[in-house]
Amino acid sequence: MYLRSFADGNGDGTGDLAGLRARLPYLADLGVDALWITPFYPSPMVDHGYDVADPRGVDPLFGDLAEFDRLVTAAHRLGLRVTVDLVPNHTSDRHPWFLEALASAAWSAARDRYIFREGHDPDDARGGSRPPNNWESNFGGPAWTRVPDGQWYLHSFAAQQPDLNWRNEEVAADYDRTLRCWLDRGVDGFRVDVAHGLVKDRQLRDNPGRYTWEMHGHGAETRYSWDQPEVHEVYRRWRVILDSYIGDRMAVGEVYLASTAARARYVRHDELHLAFNFHLAWADWDAGQLRAAIDESLAATAEVGAPTTWVLSSHDAVRHLTRFGGGEVGRRRARAAALLLLALPGPVYLYQGEELGLPQVEIPPAAIQDPLYERSGRSRPGRDGARVPLPWSGTVPPYGFCPDGVEPWLPMPADWAALTVAEQQGDDDSMLALYRRALALRRTQPELGGGSLSWYADTPADCLLFSRQPERAGSALLCAVNLGAEPMSLPEGEVLLASEPGVVRELPRDAAAWLRPG
Ligand code: NOJ
Repeated sequence: MYLRSFADGNGDGTGDLAGLRARLPYLADLGVDALWITPFYPSPMVDHGYDVADPRGVDPLFGDLAEFDRLVTAAHRLGLRVTVDLVPNHTSDRHPWFLEALASAAWSAARDRYIFREGHDPDDARGGSRPPNNWESNFGGPAWTRVPDGQWYLHSFAAQQPDLNWRNEEVAADYDRTLRCWLDRGVDGFRVDVAHGLVKDRQLRDNPGRYTWEMHGHGAETRYSWDQPEVHEVYRRWRVILDSYIGDRMAVGEVYLASTAARARYVRHDELHLAFNFHLAWADWDAGQLRAAIDESLAATAEVGAPTTWVLSSHDAVRHLTRFGGGEVGRRRARAAALLLLALPGPVYLYQGEELGLPQVEIPPAAIQDPLYERSGRSRPGRDGARVPLPWSGTVPPYGFCPDGVEPWLPMPADWAALTVAEQQGDDDSMLALYRRALALRRTQPELGGGSLSWYADTPADCLLFSRQPERAGSALLCAVNLGAEPMSLPEGEVLLASEPGVVRELPRDAAAWLRPG
C-alpha cells in the first residue's frame, strides 16, 4: 500500500489510515494475505514519509496511534496480516537527534549518531571544502552536505535524510525499541528500507566507480557504501527480537543489490526472513530475460534454504504495464505477466493499482513532488507517475479517492473512468477479475505458492512453459506464457485460467495460461 495514494479517509486529498481501514474488505476480496504499508510516521514529508522524525508515532496527516490500532484489529479480523515500513538507514533532518547533532560540536556524542566528517582535505587552501569522499546520493548529486562549522554529513538520499551511524550502540538500541513498539501493537512484521545500506565502510573510502540509481547496485560503484559485512549483525540482532514474540513475525528487506548471491546472504536462517527480489522488475518483456531472472533467483535463495520473493512493480519504479509497451499491448502483457508472477514459487508482492491495470502517468512538471526530480537537476521525472491515487468509482477525477471538489495530492488522469474499482468489479473480463481469480486459485491449489518449478524442454525460444509441483505428492500445474509473435500450441490439458478469452489448444501472442495437464 502506498498509503498516501490508496484511499483518503478524512477528505484532505491524501490517503490515510482511516481510508485504508474503510477499504480493507476490497483487499480481503482481492485475495491477498498481507499488507505492507509505507511509512505513516511523523515526517516533514520531503520523501513522502521516508524521512522519519519520530519512528514510534503517527503523522497527523495519516491519523493517530488509536487509528493505527483500529486498522490492525480490522485487518486481522479479515485475515489480513500487517507489515509496516521500518526506515533504519536515515532519519529526517527534523528528528530530535539530528537537531541535537547540528547544535552540538564537531566530534560530539550527538554527532556520532550520524556520519559527520571533515571535508576531503581539511588542510587544503579552501579548508576542506570538498566532500569527504566521492559517494553519490541515490537522488543525484553528492551524498554529503556541509554544515556551518565546516563538517559534512552523509545522506544517501535527500539532504533532509541524514544517514545514521550503525556502529553507534545508541542507534541500534533505539531501533530495538522501535521494533518492539510496533510488535507490541500487534504488527506481523516489517519491510526494511534500504536494508543493504545501513553500515558503511569504517574508513569511508572512495567508491571505485560512479553510482547511479539505474545501476541496481552493481558492485564497484557502491563497494564501500553498500552491502558491508557488518550489516548482517543488525539482522541477527533483529531476528532474536522477532523470534521472541508469539506468532509468526517476519521481516522482509529491501535488499537492492543486483547480485543474487549477495542478496541471499540477507536471508540466512538467523537473519531476515525474506528479501525483495527485483529481477523481474528489471527484466524486459523477453522470454530469455524472464527465464534467467527466475532461474538465478531460485538458485541463489535455495542455497541458503530461504524462499525467493517476486515483484513486478513498486512505488519506486515505472508501472510494468507501461514498461512492457503501454496501451493495448501493455495491457495484454500485464495480464499475462500477472499469471506468470502468481505461478512462481514463493511470496509475491503486488503494488496497489496493478490489479486495476493502471499505467504510469506523466505528471506535469509543475505538479511533480518527488525530491528526485529537483535533486537530479530536473533530468529525471521521479516516481510520482507510479504513485497517482487509486480510482475507486465515478467517471471523473478524483474518482472517489477523496471527496468531489477536493484536489488529490497528485493530479489524476481524465481518462481513468474505465479503470475504477467500481467499473471493474462489474466486469468479468477486467484486470481486477483476472487478479481475483488468479489469487483465489493460488490460495486453493497446493501446487501454486510453495513447491518447486521445472521447465519444459523443447519450448520455443520466445515462450515460457514450466510445471509447478506441490511440496507433497500431488498433480502438477502448468504455466505457459507466449512472448513471441506466433501462437503457441499448448500441451494437452484443461485450461484453468487464461489471460485472454477463448484459449483452449493455442495461446495467442502476449498471453498466458494455467493448465491442469490431461
Ligand atoms: C526506498 C523507498 O522505497 C523509497 O521510496 C525511498 O525514497 C528510499 N528507500 C529512501 O528511503
